[in-house]
Amino acid sequence: MINEKIQNILNEQINKEFFSAYFYLMIAANLEDKGLNGFAHWNRIQAQEEIDHGMIIFNYILNSDGKIILGEIKPPQCDCENVLDVFEHIYRHEKSITSSINDVTILSMDECDLATRTFIEWYINEQVEEEHAVADIVKRIKFANGDKAALLQIDRELSKREYKRHEY
Ligand code: FEO
Repeated sequence: MINEKIQNILNEQINKEFFSAYFYLMIAANLEDKGLNGFAHWNRIQAQEEIDHGMIIFNYILNSDGKIILGEIKPPQCDCENVLDVFEHIYRHEKSITSSINDVTILSMDECDLATRTFIEWYINEQVEEEHAVADIVKRIKFANGDKAALLQIDRELSKREYKRHEY
């Protein structure tokens, strides 16, 4: 059974994961509006993954005899001028999620909760992958240097991203 502190921080993390899904959906809608359907598609897939991330924690809390407390999801903001701004914003967002996963990890160690410490390991590794994937897209957009043909090539490549469901 998880203690109240662990229960609370995990519930907060569920909120952050579902907020992330909103965030990526908002970005997908903005990009689709601009005709950048491949960039939008990548964000739609990311939104689905974020829901998985939230649901895995949801199930972990219930399986640990904890209580689910679902908080309000704040509206996402992204006043980005161009696709580089968008992906730099996404990168900063994922860094903030990594930081909150680190907070869960540290609390699980402070509370000697080895089950949660083991559980959160998957998220630590997932954040490494997520930050790397976004940093790679940022690099490629920078390399394109505003060239529309090059950006459309990246758009085409991102349109091929496939959703790999994380089981929960
Ligand atoms: Fe669930 Fe993008 O971190």
